[in-house]
Amino acid sequence: TVNREIFRPVYHFTPQYGWMNDPNGMVYKDGIYHLFYQYNPYGSMWGNMHWGHATSTDLIAWEHQPVAIAPDALGTIFSGSCVVDKENTAGFGAGTIVAFYTSASDRQVQSMAYSLDNGKTFKKYARNPILTSTQRDFRDPKVFWHDATKRWVMILAVGQEMQFYSSPNLKEWTYESSFGKGQGAHGGVWECPDLLELPIEGTELMKWVLVCNINPGGPFGGSATQYFVGTFDGKKFVNESPEITKWMDWGKDHYATVTWSNAPEGRAIALAWMSNWQYANDVPTQQYRSANSVPRDLSLYTSRGETYIKVTPSPELLKLRNKSSMKYAFKVDRNHNLDKLIDDNTGSYEIDLTIKNKNAEVIGFQLFNSRGEEVEMYYNLIEKKFYMDRTKSGMISFSKEFPSVTIAPVKGQDILKIRLFIDKSSIEAFGDNGAFAMSNLIFPSEPYNRISFYAKGGSYNVTELTVYRLGLKK
Ligand code: FRU
Repeated sequence: TVNREIFRPVYHFTPQYGWMNDPNGMVYKDGIYHLFYQYNPYGSMWGNMHWGHATSTDLIAWEHQPVAIAPDALGTIFSGSCVVDKENTAGFGAGTIVAFYTSASDRQVQSMAYSLDNGKTFKKYARNPILTSTQRDFRDPKVFWHDATKRWVMILAVGQEMQFYSSPNLKEWTYESSFGKGQGAHGGVWECPDLLELPIEGTELMKWVLVCNINPGGPFGGSATQYFVGTFDGKKFVNESPEITKWMDWGKDHYATVTWSNAPEGRAIALAWMSNWQYANDVPTQQYRSANSVPRDLSLYTSRGETYIKVTPSPELLKLRNKSSMKYAFKVDRNHNLDKLIDDNTGSYEIDLTIKNKNAEVIGFQLFNSRGEEVEMYYNLIEKKFYMDRTKSGMISFSKEFPSVTIAPVKGQDILKIRLFIDKSSIEAFGDNGAFAMSNLIFPSEPYNRISFYAKGGSYNVTELTVYRLGLKK
């Protein structure tokens, strides 16, 4: 029998016991990052949704906290968001953390709760629900302060569109507009919205980004995160490129992505649930299910007149690096093998790769272990694509949707740079200076500790291959 705790990540958040899906209500206040999440405290499958709670001072080391919001007569507690009501617009007190969530029963309505002790405990608002509809899928409120109109804005996922509401006081909400018809991917229901203004790198400009999680209908089946770039005037979002679908991550395990409210220094810090509704209930962990992604800082970049999200692993992740790292440099004509990445590999590590002087058509490598389990990654520079193949990664047979090859478009720059975050049962690849991210689960029976590079149709130099052991400092 396999000890399934071998799959529990070290530097990714997981519930101690029970089921987790979406990150919820992420809010920063007075030096503390709060993470709430869709939680079933009674078992490791979806159901009985509560808001679980954890806190951190650095986005890396999380402390488990008691359940924050539990089901009541209006229903179980679905996804939502928190704000800090600095100006006391709601009358609960200046600086109160106010939570918005969907009360789910045979209908879905929006409810509110507030915390008078900085997020430790929540009281439900006496006049819930605050917003109802005849629509069946009506959920996942994201609330934020829109400075230009001095109003709160709420975005709701409603079937296959997003609806915008506004409010002066967080309690009374006015419908403003809907967005979605004919825009982006529509292979499934739209869920877990976010709307934020992000800076375009190297300019003074900002643009609005509407984050729209969709399930099913992702590029490789099941769940995924798409986004739209455009303008927002407090009432209406306008997509600047209606004909283009944009994805935030090109893996199979990146869903329900939302950002921290009130993050310091105006940062846009995103977190995703690292799973996919196709098999989230079947992954071979025991006692608990699901981890979040590593935190990622979002900004924008422009390429050929089109604006895209740039995804950067949050700088806090550098703190995980153990002093001892291994560094390699070599040329690849056909093959180059390393029989050991690091001593005593416990499965939590980072690989940084820089490739220069390339004239090969395909640049690739397999990460593998002594059991013949492997993940293969490669750039096809003719196709301008990056691939990750987990069809032989370890345990794969728990779902026919799990074995997969995921593919990201790349520019194929002169210098290729990749960072891989590996943590027992996941690989997150960040490539080409933030131009693509790819997150995939893996269930190997022992850590991959060997790597084998290959070149097709030419050669290249790996000028840097650094392997860092990653761990929380005790
Ligand atoms: C997304 C989602 C949300 C919903 C929650 C229920 O994964 O379906 O739309 O609020 O999960 O757990």
